[in-house]
Amino acid sequence: MGYPHEPHQRETTVLSRYFGDAEARSLDGWKKRGGYKALEKALGMAPADIVNIVKESGLRGRGGAGFPTGMKWSFMKPGDGKPHYLCCNADESEPGTFKDRELMRWTPHALVEGCAIGAYAIGAETAYVYIRGEFTEPLYWMEQAVKEAYAAGIIGKNAMGSGKRIDVHVHKGAGAYICGEETALMNSLEGRRGNPRIKPPFPAVSGVFGMPTTINNVETLIAAAPILMKGADWYKKMSLSNPKSTGTKLYSVCGNVYRPGTYEVVMGFPFKEFLYDLCGGPLHGRKFKAVIPGGASVPIQTMEEAEATLMDYEGFVAHGSMLGSGGVIVIDDGQSMVSVIARIARFFAHESCAQCTQCREGTAWTTKIMERIRDGQGTMEDLDTLLDIADQMTGKTICVLSDSCAVPVVSGIQKFRSEFEGLIQGRRFHPVVAAVA
Ligand SMILES: Cc1cc2nc3c(=O)[nH]c(=O)nc-3n(C[C@H](O)[C@H](O)[C@H](O)COP(=O)(O)O)c2cc1C
Repeated sequence: MGYPHEPHQRETTVLSRYFGDAEARSLDGWKKRGGYKALEKALGMAPADIVNIVKESGLRGRGGAGFPTGMKWSFMKPGDGKPHYLCCNADESEPGTFKDRELMRWTPHALVEGCAIGAYAIGAETAYVYIRGEFTEPLYWMEQAVKEAYAAGIIGKNAMGSGKRIDVHVHKGAGAYICGEETALMNSLEGRRGNPRIKPPFPAVSGVFGMPTTINNVETLIAAAPILMKGADWYKKMSLSNPKSTGTKLYSVCGNVYRPGTYEVVMGFPFKEFLYDLCGGPLHGRKFKAVIPGGASVPIQTMEEAEATLMDYEGFVAHGSMLGSGGVIVIDDGQSMVSVIARIARFFAHESCAQCTQCREGTAWTTKIMERIRDGQGTMEDLDTLLDIADQMTGKTICVLSDSCAVPVVSGIQKFRSEFEGLIQGRRFHPVVAAVA
């Protein structure tokens, strides 16, 4: 490939514009960069108008499922006499995903602003930021930002002099993957064990403390401010691909790749260009073998699939995977796919809340069998057993953690079967030896 641009010139930095700019972290610095203008504008608008602009923009949830944000906000019925709540999902425990923590580290006021706009739009006076316990640095900056915003009257009982009350609380989780699932998050916030709840009732009907609640990802909420300032059309027009996927998306890139990191590109950006030009391609002497493009829960792509993908919700599905959380895990020819998948299965088995039998047993059995194959103790029958267990784990549980464990196993067997068979037939995995310069 080879473009005559520096990598950053091929990014479109809307939300990540101030990454690395330490002054943007303070209230003064944030205001100098145009911060809180969107909130001021929002507070002068009717909440329904804000919801309509967000609907019109086509913004979809960046937490994984891609649910249309404006539609989600419109489920909150104003004037029902009940307290409404907004929860910001800042748990970010999906393996390979690290974009929300960067947003909070560098632009904590952007999230305070996004929470305040979202809360006002859905008729809530209280927003909770549920942040993963291990995120000590993002937590520090979030707490600082909330403190500063209260002291300046930006949030509180008379937010920006509007007469509207908007409180923002930062709540630290204890570091459990399952607490990123929205109903488990609400249980945890209430002080209960973080077990997912059966739906219905959906959070918009009965959420935190049994009250109507909306849950949104960090990146989703932060996107609301530029949409309000620049308009729905501006957001839609950034997409290179199709009207169902609009705006920009942050991707965190890790694994066997030359330039790992967080990147922001417009929807529809070619994945091949992204991997080889922006991210610098494979490490010296290696070749890319596979990509998991949306965090560990999504199907593995072969390079053929990845290189044909346009990066948006539909593009990843059309080429055998999903956009998910945007956590891109790159795997090169030095890695055994069986080892990678066994490692992922162990993660899900460890993080299962154990409420549902299919998940509790299925994730444990899958891990056992995957590790047996990895260690050269597997049989051909094991492959059928894995697929059968995966089938029993899919679509049958309260939340999709169980499905998430099955997904890489099934796609791995379908797309890299020869690696499984090789280990079963007694051939050790021999990584391709990297060429020495
Ligand atoms: C097991 C599990 C873990 C999840 N972890 C996260 C997470 O860490 N962050 C997140 O935003 N969404 C996570 N989700 C998705 C949330 O349940 C929810 O869909 C999302 O926060 C909604 O926000 P959005 O509409 O802005 O995407 C997880 C889902 C499941 C099933």
